[in-house]
Amino acid sequence: MERPSYLPSTLRPPRAQCLAVVMVGLPARGKTYISRKLARYLSWLGYQTRVFNVGAYRRERLGMKHTHEFFDPSNMEAESARRSMARAAMEDMLGWFREGGEVAIYDATNHTRDRRAMVRQGCERAGVPVLFVESICDDEAIIASTVREIKLNSPDYVGVDPDEAVQDFSARIAHYEQRYETLDASDGSFVKLINVGHELVLHDLRGDLPGRLVRVLMNLHIVPRPVWLTRHGESAYNVAKRVGGDADLTPRGERFAVRLTDFFNDHVIPGDDVQVWTSTLKRATQTARYLPSPLVTWRALDEIDAGIFDGMTYEEIKAQHPEEYARRQKDKLRYRYPRGESYEDVIQRLEPIIIELERQRSPTMVITHRAVLRCLYAYFLDQPPSSCTRLDVPLHTVIELTPNAYGCDEERVPLGDPVPEEV
Ligand code: F6P
Repeated sequence: MERPSYLPSTLRPPRAQCLAVVMVGLPARGKTYISRKLARYLSWLGYQTRVFNVGAYRRERLGMKHTHEFFDPSNMEAESARRSMARAAMEDMLGWFREGGEVAIYDATNHTRDRRAMVRQGCERAGVPVLFVESICDDEAIIASTVREIKLNSPDYVGVDPDEAVQDFSARIAHYEQRYETLDASDGSFVKLINVGHELVLHDLRGDLPGRLVRVLMNLHIVPRPVWLTRHGESAYNVAKRVGGDADLTPRGERFAVRLTDFFNDHVIPGDDVQVWTSTLKRATQTARYLPSPLVTWRALDEIDAGIFDGMTYEEIKAQHPEEYARRQKDKLRYRYPRGESYEDVIQRLEPIIIELERQRSPTMVITHRAVLRCLYAYFLDQPPSSCTRLDVPLHTVIELTPNAYGCDEERVPLGDPVPEEV
């Protein structure tokens, strides 16, 4: 039997793994921040991922206003209410796994062995392995800033005087400290994260997925810095509407290279150790050629490989290979060009770039291509992979992204010579 030319990609075998990532830590240790970060990374890689936040269950079912007394371990009534919220979130999580969910992040303090045993036993009964992730922080400055910046924006303290909120929240932390039990070997697989990635303790980790999560956790930091994403300047192939290739810049593309250098010089503070990353293709390195920083060229940043269609126009592909064209229109994420790549393939090869970008503490400029830029953008803006294939990323525009505690701020800076979008 003849093999079909169309071999859709998959990021990984379906339901190869499922995992419950169970957070552990006192209040104000960045658990929710870490949960969201892991969820964003996993969703981007194509895992069915969901965060189950026990605090949200409490607010939704028991009301918004809970002062610190509610968290006092000697308040038996409240203790039982909190336990039933933890159980409700766990039951929902297990139900979600039964419906095909792959990685759940169970976001709560889980600060006692007893509470952790409840979650672990529930997961074990459902055949779901557990990885505990504990965030420990004894750096008073970090804790104080988390208390101020994050907790004062928390729905728990809407309309509460800031000083009162800080006082109440500190009392809440003290209640949890009374019973806090750090993870140990009896808890099974775990990662302990000490002072936002300064130190990591790993215990009994198995499999590829926990290993990947460790790489994300290792590179966590909260230093704000911009990531500038841009496509190369216009190339001769853009004008001819041809995909792929390795064409030179046009005069308009050249002008963009000059304007990008002005942008760079205007935005970089002297002394900043700015990274400039490009693909290995001429149109990207030519765009970077006037920049004052040394270039790092990454093969992983090369444009999606259009395989046997490289160098053709979309119209030629449609006329000569209508079935292939239609398949791509139908499922652009998974459609793999014959002897080329799909968007899923591109996401896969960009994973080390994401980890490196997360690690950077200084500004980074990335000069790359349409499909690659869409995938990188989708990661930072938490867009589902299914929608990333059609994101608008025009030529001659710098997308400035500044990661923050909740996600990312975005600003788009057009640098002259708008170019009609290729379709
Ligand atoms: O047209 C420019 C280009 O970068 C091509 O080289 C590439 O094949 C294409 O864009 C990717 O966009 P799409 O996935 O929408 O075809």
